[in-house]
Amino acid sequence: MMRFAASMWQNVSGACTPVFDTTRRPWVLPDAGAADSVAAAILTCPSGALHYERKDGGAAEPIPEHNTIRLVKNGPLYLRGDFTIVNGDGELVANDTRASLCRCGASANKPYCDNSHRKIGFEAPATIAEPQTSVETLEGGKLRVETTINGPLHVTGNLTVLNGKGEPVYQGTDASFCRCGASANKPFCDGTHETIVHTNPASRRVLGRSTAREIGFLQMCFKHESSL
Ligand code: FES
Repeated sequence: MMRFAASMWQNVSGACTPVFDTTRRPWVLPDAGAADSVAAAILTCPSGALHYERKDGGAAEPIPEHNTIRLVKNGPLYLRGDFTIVNGDGELVANDTRASLCRCGASANKPYCDNSHRKIGFEAPATIAEPQTSVETLEGGKLRVETTINGPLHVTGNLTVLNGKGEPVYQGTDASFCRCGASANKPFCDGTHETIVHTNPASRRVLGRSTAREIGFLQMCFKHESSL
């Protein structure tokens, strides 16, 4: 069963009623709306849990031109782009274009956020301590995200970090992001994970779609369970 917070789907539901209704089971009825509307709504899903494949000749899901991580206040990292996630054993976890990655250390569905940050009262700013003063737009290209064992998210490739307002505050090609929740330099790793109880074993190999529904105009795919 997919779980999504109402806050996320209020916008989606408003734009695409009655396709999405979290009070209903099943809560997604993809053939209850126009294909373009459903597709547009799915693209607003930051978790990447929902994807689609058009069966009516419509445009496929676009791959974002740039790789970005948007910082969510007291919450996860919203990753968008053309990326591959590998676990600490080097196994492929996912190829994707959207994901909500845990940075509090408490998710039971790592590397993805499952909303546990709310239960533990996780606190993190939606910006960085010293934003870069000049941030140019980087080219896209493939991004690699490694969920290191009991360590940070090691991200390599062209990347821009956005604050909570969507403004660029950092760019680089090699950065490590805290995912134990304890760094004093969030969102970046400062090595604190080495001094605390380890909470981030190798993420399981989760490549693939857990379920998919064939309908008239598109195939809706549920890539992983997530909660926002
Ligand atoms: S940031 Fe959401 S569960 Fe960790």
